[in-house]
Amino acid sequence: MKTIRDLDIAGKRVLIRVDFNVPMDEEKRITDDLRIRTALPTLTHALERGARVILCSHLGRPGGERVERFSLAPVAAHLAAVLGCPVPLAPDCIGDEVESMVAGMNDGDVLMLENLRFHAGEQENDPGFARRLAALAEVYINNAFAVSHRAHASVVGVPAYCAEKGAGFLLEKELSYFHRAIDDPVRPLAAVVGGAKVSSKLGALENMLTRVDQLLIGGAMANTFLRSRGFDVGASRVEEDLLENAGRLLRDAARQGVRVYLPVDVIAADRFAPDAVCRQVTIQDIPGQWMALDIGPASVLCFREALADARTIIWNGPMGAFEMDAFARGTMALAQTLGASHALTITGGGDSNAAVRKFGEAENISYMSTGGGAFLMLMEGRELPGVKALEE
Ligand code: 3PG
Repeated sequence: MKTIRDLDIAGKRVLIRVDFNVPMDEEKRITDDLRIRTALPTLTHALERGARVILCSHLGRPGGERVERFSLAPVAAHLAAVLGCPVPLAPDCIGDEVESMVAGMNDGDVLMLENLRFHAGEQENDPGFARRLAALAEVYINNAFAVSHRAHASVVGVPAYCAEKGAGFLLEKELSYFHRAIDDPVRPLAAVVGGAKVSSKLGALENMLTRVDQLLIGGAMANTFLRSRGFDVGASRVEEDLLENAGRLLRDAARQGVRVYLPVDVIAADRFAPDAVCRQVTIQDIPGQWMALDIGPASVLCFREALADARTIIWNGPMGAFEMDAFARGTMALAQTLGASHALTITGGGDSNAAVRKFGEAENISYMSTGGGAFLMLMEGRELPGVKALEE
């Protein structure tokens, strides 16, 4: 796979697919600009070489039609501020007006296209839409790791029509950190997986099992594993249809000599609410109508101990409902454990990154991936369609 470094982009129209799908508050203020800041090295590299930079991104899920609240206008304004140059926003991402704006660009100019998902052709990977987008530029760069798991027009369709294509620095960096952690890790290698559902992470858990030395499972998904081991987890969320898979995964781990750590105690609550009545109980003592909403202090000690000698740690998914203070301690403790670790630490997924930031550990993590679904696809051991498209 080529990177932007290998391509002659001077004076050329370069279409850069970025993922500026950033969270915003009610007033359309960007609440986390990680995806914008991490794109900057690629943009400045292109601008310094006199490329005419055309940026394209999606924002949210407008469903193939123009929805004003999903306009990229706030993103273009934010980018202009951090890049220190004007970033005009085209009224659309394809069409005559866009083409004439592109034709009027000078070397070193930036133009941001409006939300790709205002057209159904983006998510449908419509060839006509992809061709029209591809025709805007002479070189295509994918710098959008976080959307590279989607076989959408701007991710897989456009590169098929571009002879000159490559990865931006962010995509390159994401893949290199992940491969360093998984394919060539300094061992022991530990994966910590949490979050609400086993169903969304089963593939990742199964693949991790073949790679890691230790697997730590927390969050609501741990309940399904505990249930499969015969514990009565009260009214906690359990995915009954996955009990069989959970049991099999634990047996496979034992056979392969991978140590799996599950919570030994939890913070149980009488309901899912910030003011719920809570109690710290062992997993044998969860009251019938109560639910486990965080791992408990004994589990924290146990997880900390398990990670103490790890040299590489991958973390995806919180340990509990950390958005509520009453159930945040397990996730906070994990963020602090990774922050204090000398291991190569990599976090992926919106919730894990939000937790790392919330608990002030962002500076202490080796690498925070900008991907959610894309990170999970790599954890599943699958190739990203966006990466494959650059290799073809
Ligand atoms: C993300 O936020 O994970 C990416 O931007 C992909 O967004 P999507 O899940 O709406 O495709």
